[in-house]
Amino acid sequence: LDKNISDIIVDSIYFARKRVMRIFRKDIASRSLGRNISGDITRYIDIVSEKSIIDFLKKSLKSFSILSEEAGFRKYGADYPLIIMDPIDGSFNASRGIPLFSISIAVAYGDTINDIVFGAVCNIATGDIYTGYKDKGAYLNNILIERNTKGFRPVVSIALSQNIYPKMNKFIRRSLDKGWKIRVIGSSSLEICMVADGSIDAYIDIRNMLRISDIAASILILNESKGRIYNRSIFNEVFLGEKRYNIVAANSQSLLDEILAVLEFINKSY
Ligand code: IPD
Ligand code: CA
Repeated sequence: LDKNISDIIVDSIYFARKRVMRIFRKDIASRSLGRNISGDITRYIDIVSEKSIIDFLKKSLKSFSILSEEAGFRKYGADYPLIIMDPIDGSFNASRGIPLFSISIAVAYGDTINDIVFGAVCNIATGDIYTGYKDKGAYLNNILIERNTKGFRPVVSIALSQNIYPKMNKFIRRSLDKGWKIRVIGSSSLEICMVADGSIDAYIDIRNMLRISDIAASILILNESKGRIYNRSIFNEVFLGEKRYNIVAANSQSLLDEILAVLEFINKSY
């Protein structure tokens, strides 16, 4: 790990956060500026965050590359460190004024998820920051996450869309029968980090829509908190801006197994 790169990343996040909060809940935040490479609408708030982070990194690092949701891949003098970022994860929430969205940044020295050495996810509205250091643990506001279960009754956050109706309908019904709590939050990086710290117990997104920039930082944080993820083969995936992912994450193997059974995911290696 480059000396100080994790500090630089965290500082860049707080630098961007200040600018983002200045426009949050103002009309300009949701102004559409066209579509990004994935075909999603890019809004003013996305660009303010992305530009702030890149400007900050250009001043603080000699050379690096970025893979970012709006800007795509850009090389500033060297392939590594590769900074994989989602300048706003939960753009819909951010542009509506719902205070549940993040900045998510991962640092890699190689081209697979296994090569990610650091990840940071900041809940922009609260300022909470989750950090994960490969093989060195996960932290919430600089305090080591040591226990990631808080209650007896599982709280499961899910992502919904029409293409997963029958499966998720059934999942919701079964979960409610078991007495589980269901949430739909709309910021995958934050939801995965909340599994890491035990605020929620599991996160399910099987719509095949998540991008690497949405999850790069948070799955390192989850892994470092000893949380479980069903498709562990994801760690060998090469970064490709356009590839889409599914995630089932839980804070214990037993809860993960129970969820996979309800979803009828069989014989998946994890
Ligand atoms: C979105 C969030 C959301 C997920 C969407 C993503 P974005 O990211 O992660 O939770 O359901 O699929 O696109 O577009 O706000 O960066
Ligand atoms: Ca985004």
